[in-house]
Amino acid sequence: MEQPHVVVLFGATGDLAKRKLLPGLYRLRRAGLLTDARVIGTSLEEIDTEAFVDLAREACVEHGRGAYDEEKWALFATTLSYVSQAAGPAALADAVAEAESVLADAAQAAGKEIQRLHYLSVPPKAALDVLHQLDEAGLVERSRIVMEKPFGTDLESAKKLNHRVHEVFGEEQVFRIDHFLGKEAAQNILAFRFANGLFEPIWNRNFIDHVQIDVPETLGLEGRTAFYESTGAFRDMVVTHLMQVLAFMAMEPPTSLAPGPISDEKLKVFRSMKPLQPKDAVRGQYTGYRGKEQVADDSDTETFVALKVEIDNWRWAGVPFFLRTGKKLAEGARIISIAFKEPPLSMFPQGSNVGMQGPDHLTFDLADQSKMSLSFYGKRPGPGFKLEKLSMQFATHETPSAGLVLEAYERLIHDAMRGDHTLFTTAAGIETLWEKAIPLLTDPPPVRSYAPGSWGPNAIHQLVAPHAWRLPF
Ligand code: BG6
Repeated sequence: MEQPHVVVLFGATGDLAKRKLLPGLYRLRRAGLLTDARVIGTSLEEIDTEAFVDLAREACVEHGRGAYDEEKWALFATTLSYVSQAAGPAALADAVAEAESVLADAAQAAGKEIQRLHYLSVPPKAALDVLHQLDEAGLVERSRIVMEKPFGTDLESAKKLNHRVHEVFGEEQVFRIDHFLGKEAAQNILAFRFANGLFEPIWNRNFIDHVQIDVPETLGLEGRTAFYESTGAFRDMVVTHLMQVLAFMAMEPPTSLAPGPISDEKLKVFRSMKPLQPKDAVRGQYTGYRGKEQVADDSDTETFVALKVEIDNWRWAGVPFFLRTGKKLAEGARIISIAFKEPPLSMFPQGSNVGMQGPDHLTFDLADQSKMSLSFYGKRPGPGFKLEKLSMQFATHETPSAGLVLEAYERLIHDAMRGDHTLFTTAAGIETLWEKAIPLLTDPPPVRSYAPGSWGPNAIHQLVAPHAWRLPF
């Protein structure tokens, strides 16, 4: 039986709550993974429970991925309530006490304490206020907090933020979320590498030529212009999602799948990274960005970034990891592709592989319908010895267990409720990443413009030469 929970959702009327968190909580309940729970929404908006339930219902209809059902919804709706943050810490404490009184019988029957999960879906500055509000309201005990990025904007601010968090909560109570690690395909990297005998022996500089982590987006800023203008692609995506995925790709086998050993190995990857140099990065800004409201006329914010990352350890020395992400690009994708070294010599007729893309590849596709594929050369049927490109593919949504797939936020909320830190990031890991970013942040290369709908500024080709970007396929 799940532990009874009071979930306090800060930023409950915001965009993330509507798109992911409220539908996620509803879907977890539908899946039987959130049985004895009450959800208290709170934000600066002064609305009542009825209005909040309406908002949550709309969110679940629109973003519930087909899971909305009147009857199931009605049951979930009875577990929701709302209290405005403007009413102060005492009102929040009362709301939590009331929710806990409803759960008291269930907790007694299960012989378990009621846990509290405070989800801080608010900007960093507001998060600090919330921490103190929780402290004043006496809501620190039996509590875990989930924090959203950005975890600072540089090393100094990240340290300050972590220090302030630790004034109120112990590190074991803190769950810093990076939703890319909640994606099935990201977790599949661990299964793929460490549950099979086949791949790990070749997972190193002797066999791998280079790795690409490529997350182009067709989306623009989607109403988040002010946030984006002060953040940019590097802080929004690279120092967060792309680096976390890189750590799963590059880490040594942990001693076990427990949170401690995994975080330790990820930290070692970050520590082995060479500091990120301006010469190894391309920053871009799509044309038309500067004309937008809330964007400075001479804005230097990058909406695109590509960079070369080098990991200076025995496994990876000399193997570049190329990262790319940006807004308003030609296609949306989230792929990690591993290019293997070519055989020492080719015995096939010259030109027999004309039109094919370099060496063989293993690809993890982190799309919602995740896939893994291995592409390689085979012989083209018929006379002679011409080659053609073949591939083997495995798609999560086509497996017999496809129905069990949880959306990234659902998976991570559920893990946080169980106190499982495995897929969360740590203060030490984040601070190390900021430290490695110092040269790039101190002396960023100039932003180059690129046309919306393109693959970014032309300089991206020099960055990867003599290799080539794997996308577009
Ligand atoms: C968010 C970024 O963390 O991740 C967004 O702030 C980005 O800018 C998004 O669009 C991408 O997430 P996903 O799951 O849609 O690939």
